[in-house]
Amino acid sequence: MDLQNDIAKILISREQLEQRIHELGEAISRDYAGKDLLLVCILKGGVVFLSDLVRAIHIPHAIEFMAISSYGGTRTESSGVVRIMMDLNTSIENRNVLIVEDIIDTGHTLAHIVDLLKTRNPQSLRICTLLNKSSRREVPVQVDYIGFDIPNEFVVGYGLDFNEIYRNLPFVGVLKPERYT
Ligand code: IMP
Ligand code: MG
Repeated sequence: MDLQNDIAKILISREQLEQRIHELGEAISRDYAGKDLLLVCILKGGVVFLSDLVRAIHIPHAIEFMAISSYGGTRTESSGVVRIMMDLNTSIENRNVLIVEDIIDTGHTLAHIVDLLKTRNPQSLRICTLLNKSSRREVPVQVDYIGFDIPNEFVVGYGLDFNEIYRNLPFVGVLKPERYT
């Protein structure tokens, strides 16, 4: 069984991802030059993006992880109910925190994380997301770095899953509807 057979179309190719992540790495390196930068990756979806992004950033920085689950929604739509499964195990007080996320859809997940992290008094708090479905936004989130704006289609690959599968695909693709209906 080849995972690629479940993909209706490739939305963002491996080459496009590489090119855009290179640009994001340059922008982040420029904006945070001389600052104490901490990337906070949201597990699990953000991990593939993070691993390429850190290699495109050429200034010193640290990485930390947080695991979130949104539950109670349908299989392809999050519910807006967010739970912290694994918190940071370091202080972010007075640090320049950049959240690294795979996708912002309704915005509920990020809004919740931002509210939580703000209470811990970082020096600055910004967001870098690979994908942005702006047409789906239900709560406003200020996003500082966006890889790609995408239409309202359910996508998998490059860290994004459906039922925990497809994260390893090297591109972002649209799942065939018959795979989830
Ligand atoms: P939000 O709280 O609605 O912004 O949802 C964000 C989370 O929903 C992401 O971190 C993903 O885990 C998941 N998600 C939203 N859209 C997609 C998609 O198209 N494919 C895979 N996961 C998605
Ligand atoms: Mg996610």
